[in-house]
Amino acid sequence: MGRRLLHPVLTAICIALLLSPARAAETQQVARGRYLATVGDCVICHTRPGPGSAEFAGGYPLHAAPGTVYSSNITPDKRTGIGTWTVDQFYRAMHEGIAADGRHLYPAFPYAYFAKLNRADTDAIFAYLRTVKPVSYRPPRNRLIFPANIRAGMAGWNALFLDSTPFRANPKKSARWNRGAELVTGVGHCGACHSPKNILFADKAGDNLQGNFVDGWFAPNLTPAKPDGLGGWSAQEIVQFLKTGRNRHAWSAGSMRQVVERSTSRMTDSDLLAIAAYLKSLPPSAARAPHAPAARQMQDGEAIFVTRCSVCHSRAHVRDYPALAKNTLVQSRDPRTLLRIILQGASSAGTKQGGSGFSMPAFPVLSDKELADVATYIRNSWGNRAEPVSASDVASLRDALKSSDQGTGRKSGTGT
Ligand code: HEC
Ligand code: HEC
Ligand code: HEC
Repeated sequence: MGRRLLHPVLTAICIALLLSPARAAETQQVARGRYLATVGDCVICHTRPGPGSAEFAGGYPLHAAPGTVYSSNITPDKRTGIGTWTVDQFYRAMHEGIAADGRHLYPAFPYAYFAKLNRADTDAIFAYLRTVKPVSYRPPRNRLIFPANIRAGMAGWNALFLDSTPFRANPKKSARWNRGAELVTGVGHCGACHSPKNILFADKAGDNLQGNFVDGWFAPNLTPAKPDGLGGWSAQEIVQFLKTGRNRHAWSAGSMRQVVERSTSRMTDSDLLAIAAYLKSLPPSAARAPHAPAARQMQDGEAIFVTRCSVCHSRAHVRDYPALAKNTLVQSRDPRTLLRIILQGASSAGTKQGGSGFSMPAFPVLSDKELADVATYIRNSWGNRAEPVSASDVASLRDALKSSDQGTGRKSGTGT
């Protein structure tokens, strides 16, 4: 053996000794946990908005009708985080929504989805969370109205709505479909935003992924319906959207932007294909027949579009700006995401694949009527078809954004 070879061989032996089988297994478990935590958006919800706030230390506000719930500190800090938790206590929190000290957790923490994770998965997430920097930080107290402020009430919620059995593969379906189902209905918790809720904030049985208004945004219909669902999207186009936040049908702009940046753009291609295959296999939501807009409203809307919008959104510019023709977001059953984008502006996900570098300007100067007119116009031009928007729809969205402190012109979800 020549001298030149000896050195790399020795190094390899040293590395092998350092990484004894137990340690290698541990690092593999941590890597798996990190990936699952990425898919589960833990860092998005468990990091306080604003520059310099510590990841996983909690304090992110989740707004819903009964009030505001702040996420917990899940760093390994012993006093304010989960540093003293056992791996069994962590499994129980992820499966039953019960904290180590016996507190019932609110479903703003999507444990009804995380319950689909198996034991090896939650153990891996726990092992990963052990490796993040402990941070001493106590999130603000929740602000909830009675009776939602009584945690014990969640036991009743669990009895009604929680199915805590881990995901089981359907042997009649392909491995790809099963992987997609596992991700979407489990750790990916897509339905937490995209599925309609009943009055107790549980998913409405049967309306799975058909679209839902959450935290100031309408998360669109993900079933293969047309024109407001993914019926016109190929599996490849779904993958492209999840990877880059953009495709020829829509650009991410609301709370999906963070999901793309911090979660789906970091998932493997085979997992994204699995998600696409599962979404394409869902039963499409029932077709709707929208009312035709009044001719006058279309004329008024067109005039605004020509002066304020067409400079960027004309057919000639569809490479650099999203096309509004056949755009699923524009034709959503619920127009609130569309209205909010026009009102507050938007810039879509910046991912490894790169952002577009262009932003949509905000148009707070438009009156409620003008905004309703231009929205109605783009919802019903170039082959688009969707329910007209009224001035009072715009007024009530403005009020809702103001009262939940989301009307300050911030450009993405409540987190930024
Ligand atoms: C949609 C937002 C959201 C996401 C995503 C989320 N959490 Fe949470 N989580 C919360 C909120 C809110 C609470 C506090 C609930 C409460 O106070 O009742 C919480 C509480 C917890 C707790 C209980 C800690 C305690 O003592 O209060 C654990 C553990 C936890 N989350 C782990 C995770 C992990 C792991 C992930 C990723 C796989 C995750 N969470 C993703 C919102 C979220
Ligand atoms: C925090 C809430 C949230 C979560 C979690 C979430 N989404 Fe979304 N999603 C949205 C919102 C809001 C929009 C529409 C506006 C935008 O771009 O933000 C959207 C848009 C989309 C679109 C584009 C639809 C269209 O018609 O334009 C797809 C596809 C999508 N999401 C898939 C997913 C999948 C798959 C998951 C789970 C892995 C997921 N989303 C998880 C909130 C969410
Ligand atoms: C200066 C150029 C510019 C002007 C003017 C402009 N937009 Fe935009 N618009 C954009 C860009 C860039 C985006 C993509 C933002 C992003 O990255 O999500 C966008 C996004 C949108 C979207 C979201 C599409 C999707 O799929 O997410 C809608 C709807 C929209 N614009 C409507 C309008 C309307 C209505 C007007 C006029 C009132 C207008 N825009 C004026 C540049 C412009």
